[in-house]
Amino acid sequence: MRLQEIKLTNFRKHAGLAFAPSDRINLLYGMNGSGKTNILEAVHYCTLARGLNKSLDKECLNFAADYFLLDGSFADDRGIELAVKVSYAKNAEKKIFVNGEELKKFSQLIGRIPCVTFSPMELAVVNGSPQERRRFMDNALSQTNKRYLADLLQYRRVLQQRNTLLAAASGKGVEKENIDVWTEKLSLLAASIVSSRIGFIMQLLGYFGPVYEELGLGEMPGFSYRSSIGRQVPDMTEDELAVAMIHRFREIESQELYRKQTLLGPHRDDIVFRLNDIEVKRYASQGQLRTFLIAMKLALQKLVREATGEKPLFLLDDLFSELDRKRVEKVLGLLDGSGQSIITATSKKEIDGVHSISVEELAQSLV
Ligand SMILES: Nc1ncnc2c1ncn2[C@@H]1O[C@H](COP(=O)(O)OP(=O)(O)OP(=O)(O)O)[C@@H](O)[C@H]1O
Ligand SMILES: [Mg+2]
Repeated sequence: MRLQEIKLTNFRKHAGLAFAPSDRINLLYGMNGSGKTNILEAVHYCTLARGLNKSLDKECLNFAADYFLLDGSFADDRGIELAVKVSYAKNAEKKIFVNGEELKKFSQLIGRIPCVTFSPMELAVVNGSPQERRRFMDNALSQTNKRYLADLLQYRRVLQQRNTLLAAASGKGVEKENIDVWTEKLSLLAASIVSSRIGFIMQLLGYFGPVYEELGLGEMPGFSYRSSIGRQVPDMTEDELAVAMIHRFREIESQELYRKQTLLGPHRDDIVFRLNDIEVKRYASQGQLRTFLIAMKLALQKLVREATGEKPLFLLDDLFSELDRKRVEKVLGLLDGSGQSIITATSKKEIDGVHSISVEELAQSLV
């Protein structure tokens, strides 16, 4: 998949800008605040229907404008074109059009244009709260596995229902039967989600090993899934997981009624990342954390390619400030030939095979 051209109108600081990257490695350079990340964010909107780092639609609207428009033209690896338009106006819902047709649900866009990101903010995936790692898994799996996204959306609805019932419950018979119905629904969806996640992190680790070996300091990486229902989960089939979950819900019934919320399930799970059996989150150095994250994103790029049959678009924000020169060269080597990537940096770099574009010049070209 590649981006042929994107046009931004009133998006963040860009009143009007068009950007047509090359098919390989692109370096978008400019001073701090020149609007490089803004451009990556615009591309991200066209691929995943939202901005970077949890930003809101209204925050992306140029301060002086009352609507923004993004117009992205993509081509898949077979050359089939895909036009994505995103429009947002003050006090109105965001709209997304693919090849001229308006999407009923934004989730319909997910997976159409496989995209992997790297940004310093995402270090939280490695050293932040479990929620960050769940989000990482959910985002990656939603792009590569249609059933996952559907199950996840359904799970969130069922979870909300069950929590509402728990909040209102006083522990009487009829209520309990009612909760049991939702417990079963929740457990079936949870089992599907957890088993996809375990498959995902094991597959990711398979790609991560060799990439980390190339970039890292010689440590052995390990990933494991930490389930809120117990440790033995990775060896279970999806059916066994559902049964184990229902069983465990029975054991903690009184606790849930007391706390008035659902205490188990994929919304409470985590991944543990290790290097030489030591938990990365707690002990890794800054350099190890960064290397770990970039290796993970490079591994994800390979996984997404395998799962979708498309080379994903790779958006890398501030790559150079995060890595030393030697690692940068290695990363560029790994990126070369693996699809289109757009890297941002504060200065131009003369590197073979890298197409450099000045943001300041782009911003002036349409004025
Ligand atoms: N909605 C908006 N309307 C107008 N300007 C905005 C809006 N949102 C952000 N900006 C401006 O855009 C600039 C930030 O752009 P961006 O983050 O893309 O810069 P950058 O080139 O990535 O900088 P750095 O090198 O520091 O990462 C800031 O000056 C900010 O004030
Ligand atoms: Mg930036």
